[in-house]
Amino acid sequence: MRILGIETSCDETGVAIYDHDQGLLAEALHSQIAIHQEYGGVVPELASRDHVRKLLPLIRQLFADADIGPESLDGVAFTTGPGLVGALMVGASVGRSLAWAWGVPAIGVHHMEGHLLAPMLEAEPPEFPFIAMLVSGGHTQLVEVQGVGHYHLMGDSLDDAAGEAFDKTAKLLDLPYPGGPELSRLATQGNPERYRFPRPMTDRPGLDFSFSGLKTFALNTLQDAAKTEGEPIPEQTRADIARAFEEAVVDTLMIKCRRAVRETGIKRLIMAGGVSANQRLRERIGEMMAKEGGAAYYPRLKFCTDNGAMIAYAGCQRLMAGENDGLSFSVTPRWPMEELSGLSQAG
Ligand code: KG4
Ligand code: ZN
Repeated sequence: MRILGIETSCDETGVAIYDHDQGLLAEALHSQIAIHQEYGGVVPELASRDHVRKLLPLIRQLFADADIGPESLDGVAFTTGPGLVGALMVGASVGRSLAWAWGVPAIGVHHMEGHLLAPMLEAEPPEFPFIAMLVSGGHTQLVEVQGVGHYHLMGDSLDDAAGEAFDKTAKLLDLPYPGGPELSRLATQGNPERYRFPRPMTDRPGLDFSFSGLKTFALNTLQDAAKTEGEPIPEQTRADIARAFEEAVVDTLMIKCRRAVRETGIKRLIMAGGVSANQRLRERIGEMMAKEGGAAYYPRLKFCTDNGAMIAYAGCQRLMAGENDGLSFSVTPRWPMEELSGLSQAG
């Protein structure tokens, strides 16, 4: 089975063709960073309009790169949630229309299921069951995964998601959007001994997360530094604060992942979503899993953040299991992953 995948839930237009036997045939991505940068964050209306402009040319390019035509496709998959409603509508309406024109089935895909299954695109994919640490701009979730669609939510963010905390703290540090990778780059220059930030909710049982306090801690630290060192705050101090913030997020995520692994006895952990591109996090999680006698799995870097390949893969699993959405489509900006149906052949 060969599927076109379309991702337009936020600020990247991503497309890919995945073939069940041959793997990924082609993928293309257009990032909207340049559009949103001057506003310091994603402007939903501009995001939708840019998806409209870029999606069809990107799909044309994809067919050219794969050297195939639409007649060789068996289905179309597109993200229908969670995400920005207007942005989702673009991918869903274009995807559903193309599927109709080509006479193939169509299916809406859950964006976080896409992230969760992204490590399956790698040469050595994890076997089920595994624990998934999903860390993106909108989600911080620990999920026990028994198979495709068999998801048990073990922990969730009570306020800001990890990526959101990175982005907001980056703004406090005057870094450009998207803040996560910028903050991480600055942190590499920082002295890890200078400041120590709290590890929220690690002193009590449970697997939930709360990162909004860290942003406030960063703000207070910056204000203190401004008083003692003057403004503009020296570059080294900003780097030291970035380092302390990153260490706190990474350490907190690591502690909760270790707890989930110990509680379940499942020794395979995958990390996915934008923040899983963070090198320090990958290092620390890798070390921890090695100590626990298990293994950590990640998507390649470009499939950590939003992309079409993960949507093509997830859609392919569901279409192969006989699911499809018929001729109608709807988008679901808020959509708990536990509402997804479990696929029997995988469970
Ligand atoms: O999965 P994603 O591309 O989009 C959502 O579904 O939200 O994740 C984007 C998030 C942003 O908050 C971004 O700052 C963060 O992932 N991010 C990072 C890194 N790369 C992306 N955070 C920390 N370190 C990174 N290297
Ligand atoms: Zn995402």
